[in-house]
Amino acid sequence: MNLLSPTSENILYCAESLLTGNLVAFPTETVYGLGADATNELAVSKIYEVKGRPSDHPLIVHISSNSKLELWATNIPKYARDLASKFWPGPMTLILKRSNIAQDFITGGQNTVALRVPNHPVASDLLTSFEAMGGLGIAAPSANRFGAVSPTSGSDVLSELGEYITNKDMVLDGGKSSIGLESTIIDCTGKFPRILRPGAITREMANISEPISGQISTELNKIKYSGEFESHYSPNAKVLLNHMPQKNDGMIALKNIETPKGVYRLASPENLEEYANQLYSALRKADKLSLLRVVAITPNPTGIGVAICDRLRKAAAD
Ligand code: TXA
Ligand code: MG
Repeated sequence: MNLLSPTSENILYCAESLLTGNLVAFPTETVYGLGADATNELAVSKIYEVKGRPSDHPLIVHISSNSKLELWATNIPKYARDLASKFWPGPMTLILKRSNIAQDFITGGQNTVALRVPNHPVASDLLTSFEAMGGLGIAAPSANRFGAVSPTSGSDVLSELGEYITNKDMVLDGGKSSIGLESTIIDCTGKFPRILRPGAITREMANISEPISGQISTELNKIKYSGEFESHYSPNAKVLLNHMPQKNDGMIALKNIETPKGVYRLASPENLEEYANQLYSALRKADKLSLLRVVAITPNPTGIGVAICDRLRKAAAD
């Protein structure tokens, strides 16, 4: 069985296992990550195999604390340091100029690296143990097949990747991820910070102004990031936004919106935080029920609602 409860013994075992080149999926507050030693090319190549992900797609390196920032990044602007001290550990990833530790197999050949200090006791313990044994960072994309819905529980990781991982690869079970959507990605390589992927750290919280249209440089078009593929976060069921649900459709909407007769209600969140938290498990439930269509009623795009609408739009894209 690959699913391990997060006892101190199991966490130590997983840290060692990572250092010997195996994969360990672990919980974070956003979604579960599929981890490998970020300095081991062979181990990192297993991530791409298991995910079925194009190998030039860069990965986020997870570190235990802000003090490890310099190890992986150089030329760090003051605003990036401020964001790190304000929001780490937390659901935010910073894109920075890479140091020579961040090799091409992590960055997709770009001269930048993505870094995050997660805020989850199991992830923190795993990172601290791994670093105490000499590890420098854990590369981890979301623990789903390429283009599919990110897992937000240990059992979701197993149902998503169980048939692709080996018996040496482990899944640390830390229960349900508290946020449920991937981290906010902020590009910190320019004069000003720029949000590449919305998440729980909102534009307002990070005090980042909207990009002025026409000023999005061609440089941004060269960056490989999650917005690059329009279709992402998709279940097998077809996702429709703001349609009238028909008989046998699944439905995701805030609680105050009624379910028409014959429609499967997959989630009835009371607020935006609950919506974020329930979205991916609701999409998974649709597939477990073999539903053909899911109708989602999008919430207001404020706060984490921006991230919910972003993921729903991509889940609905063909
Ligand atoms: O919440 C999260 O961020 C989760 C947890 C496990 O930390 N991780 C996650 O990883 O969502 P992933 O690989 O599914 O999404 C990371 C995104 C990818 O779309 C990738 O293209 C982008 O980050 N990325 C990574 N390195 C980058 C870089 N150097 N420049 C631009 N984008 C980068
Ligand atoms: Mg992902």
